[in-house]
Amino acid sequence: MKTASMILDRDFAIGRIDRRIYGSFIEHLGRAVYGGIYEPGHPAADGNGFRRDVIAMVRRLSVPVVRYPGGNFVSGFHWEDSVGPRAERPRRLDLAWATTETNEVGLHEFVDWARQADTDVMYAVNLGTRGADAARNVVEYANHPSGSFFSDLRVQNGAKEPFNIKLWCLGNEMDGPWQICGKTAFEYGRLANETAKVMKLVDPSIEVVACGSSSREMPGYGAWEYQMLDECYDNIDYVSLHRYYGNRDHNTPAFLARSVEMELFIREVASICDAVGAKKRSPKKLGLSFDEWNVWYHSNAQDQEIVKADKWNRALPLLEDIYNFEDALLVGSMLLTLLRNADRVKIACLAQLVNVIAPIMTRNGGGVWAQTIYWPLMQASRYGRGTSLRPVTQSPTYDCADLEGVPLLDAAATLDDDGSVTLFAVNRDLAEDIALTVDLRAFGTLRVVEHSVLHHDDVKAVNTEAAPDTVAPAAGDPGVMENGRLTVRMPSLSWNVIRLAKG
Ligand code: AHR
Repeated sequence: MKTASMILDRDFAIGRIDRRIYGSFIEHLGRAVYGGIYEPGHPAADGNGFRRDVIAMVRRLSVPVVRYPGGNFVSGFHWEDSVGPRAERPRRLDLAWATTETNEVGLHEFVDWARQADTDVMYAVNLGTRGADAARNVVEYANHPSGSFFSDLRVQNGAKEPFNIKLWCLGNEMDGPWQICGKTAFEYGRLANETAKVMKLVDPSIEVVACGSSSREMPGYGAWEYQMLDECYDNIDYVSLHRYYGNRDHNTPAFLARSVEMELFIREVASICDAVGAKKRSPKKLGLSFDEWNVWYHSNAQDQEIVKADKWNRALPLLEDIYNFEDALLVGSMLLTLLRNADRVKIACLAQLVNVIAPIMTRNGGGVWAQTIYWPLMQASRYGRGTSLRPVTQSPTYDCADLEGVPLLDAAATLDDDGSVTLFAVNRDLAEDIALTVDLRAFGTLRVVEHSVLHHDDVKAVNTEAAPDTVAPAAGDPGVMENGRLTVRMPSLSWNVIRLAKG
């Protein structure tokens, strides 16, 4: 068994945790909407066709905000198609995913669903084929009380009260060559600036997110952020980051270390934001919106076949990654990374929520179940509240592929307003448990309420409809508390949540 040590102190505060870092994403893509959240005729469907069993799983996950309706989808989307009488809504070709969008579920339906799922909508506007005019109109439709063309249209369509959507994305991945009507950094920066300006003229209370690079691997990464921010810094509130990882070469230690790269990514984008702010002598500090993050690679090859065989069909089963145990560990470490950067990352969306690279899976006409990655998100969202604390950790390390000195023990800690402390940790060691000693003397008397462990002997183990609890949290070593020091054992390859309360 290896050993590690840690000091936690309320004075090691990183920042307040914005609950929105536990957000998620639903795109009109694959079976996320049709066959995911919406399946009229399913035994669990409510009067509007929304599956109650899926809503219950989303509520249990405790997701504060859901990004919608895309994604790549949004860059060809006409929001007007998604409102008004359902029978009159057009069927459109979705060029992003080579499917047909029926618009059966639109803005009103999604807002209703979000209310039931106890979450807020983060709405993306189309800055691909469209621009500032369509964007300001949808803000007027959604948020203006009444007495104008678009707000009255909303009322006429059945929603007397405004939707009050507070968070808006200015397009999606606009640097990507795959994006419908992608832009150069300058073109996008100008467009984002003018669009943000007119949207905020309609409703000054909204916040807007500008598109950063589609990933840290884009050739224009860095220059894109700098140039587009130079154009829109004053009118935007957040910059987006997107990142997906895969274990294509079956190298688990290297895969589990990907969150180290995620941390670099966050720091680099924050630095570029600050560089632009400094150049402008601006007192304003931009926040970061990590609004697409996850593991994504299992379904890549299969998706090409599906599209080849069934182009332009509706609700194709695309991006249906089946997540295994090691994916849950990396998702856990990515959550730890978000928590350790709580001073800058104010919004984050696990991409996505149902069926499409998702923690929740459904079968058409059948059941709903939690994938392995459901558990770390659920536990972080439920217990990672209040202030993020920097754990001062001594841990053995390892080297892999492109990284040196990767800590075997990856950790984050939170101090809730009621004085309770939660420690989250991943043991990245393939073979050995870690005996961790945590110095908690700064908090007075604390007791362990729960040590929850996610572990499976097989890194490739998955959850299925028939065996949904194959990978699920279980009780771990309660540890020994002595003179304010807790010693606890964390199994090899495990996600751990240790909840400590006063008294
Ligand atoms: O989440 C799936 C896709 O990944 C999104 O549509 C796009 O923004 C990203 O490339």
